[in-house]
Amino acid sequence: MTGLTTIRVDSSRPYDVIIGEGILDNAGKKIADVKNPCKAAIITDSTVRELYADRLAFSLQSAGFDTCLFSFESGEASKNIDTLSDALEFLASRKMTRSDIIIALGGGVVGDLAGFAAAVYLRGIDFVQIPTTLLAAVDSSVGGKTAIDLKNGKNLAGCFYSPVLVLCDCKTLDTLPDEILSDGTAEALKYGVLFDGELFGKIASGKVAGDRESIIARCVDLKRMVVETDEFDRGARQLLNFGHTIGHAIEKCSGFTISHGRGVAVGMAMIAKAAAQKGISEYDCAPRIISALNNCRLPHKTDYTAKQLFEAALLDKKRQSGSITLVLPRRIGECFLKKIPVEELIEYIEAGI
Ligand SMILES: NC(=O)c1ccc[n+]([C@@H]2O[C@H](COP(=O)([O-])OP(=O)(O)OC[C@H]3O[C@@H](n4cnc5c(N)ncnc54)[C@H](O)[C@@H]3O)[C@@H](O)[C@H]2O)c1
Ligand SMILES: [Zn+2]
Repeated sequence: MTGLTTIRVDSSRPYDVIIGEGILDNAGKKIADVKNPCKAAIITDSTVRELYADRLAFSLQSAGFDTCLFSFESGEASKNIDTLSDALEFLASRKMTRSDIIIALGGGVVGDLAGFAAAVYLRGIDFVQIPTTLLAAVDSSVGGKTAIDLKNGKNLAGCFYSPVLVLCDCKTLDTLPDEILSDGTAEALKYGVLFDGELFGKIASGKVAGDRESIIARCVDLKRMVVETDEFDRGARQLLNFGHTIGHAIEKCSGFTISHGRGVAVGMAMIAKAAAQKGISEYDCAPRIISALNNCRLPHKTDYTAKQLFEAALLDKKRQSGSITLVLPRRIGECFLKKIPVEELIEYIEAGI
């Protein structure tokens, strides 16, 4: 293991996020620091299982844990109530008790589903997040949001439930296909636009590989700050939706063939262009975001019409009855929340197109 960074998240159930290279093979020891050896159920997907489950199981067994493994087919389509039910039945069949532990090994889909299973199995058992995508490392593994999708929409059932530990082995990101890696880059760029011009500059160059650990650590630290201020998403945490209102609409219009990261990339560019047109943001903010997206091989435009996007955005779960809260950039490194009547959203979308 090389030098590790530890970030303490001081939420209602505090936990450490440990970031570095080579952690996977020492995961057992790290988990034993927070939990006496017990039964450990690894929950993962079919792709990650092939790549990393054996190493994790070996490391856990070496530290005295008794392991079992539940895996499901990789992909968002599995993040549903049937997989959740199978996972819960699996835990019960293995006679997991409240003193045992679940280990979520994978991307955001695994983390969200396993986290939800941990929250509801026996009314809550401990779980550890081991993110293996960039998106999960910088975003979904930290902050305690868990969820599954319903037929009516994404993430419609879930709860807040923090892990007891997050172990991010940056080495596991080496096997990510470029497209999935760049989905995570879009979320990392989001933290730069929201809070940190220097971080934005690093990612905007499009050459994140050498700086991967420090970029992930900075993103996690920024998410920590937001989560500590507003763990249950009633105020400041909404800032993390920068680019997401239009981004979600794009994902929805495409029938989810356009990935979340790509939707968010276009959403950030569009809302920044709208902010520029309305005289809200500094003149170079939108062009800098667009240039960064180009460098990171992410899109900044969509073929959907403003009307299509508006209609899709009306279904957004973050909408309150007659209003919607937008996240608007003032400059790179500073954004703010603005509540607008839902009808006004079309103006922003038109200005962004
Ligand atoms: N809880 C939160 O706060 C939060 C935040 C953002 C996103 N999310 C959720 O996260 C999900 C998206 O996460 P994601 O982008 O990680 O998707 P994902 O978990 O589906 O992973 C993407 C693909 O990469 C594969 N993969 C994972 N790790 C790999 C590795 N190291 N090498 C090779 N392939 C690997 C997976 O098998 C999958 O096919 C969505 O469901 C979204 O709703 C949750
Ligand atoms: Zn996102």
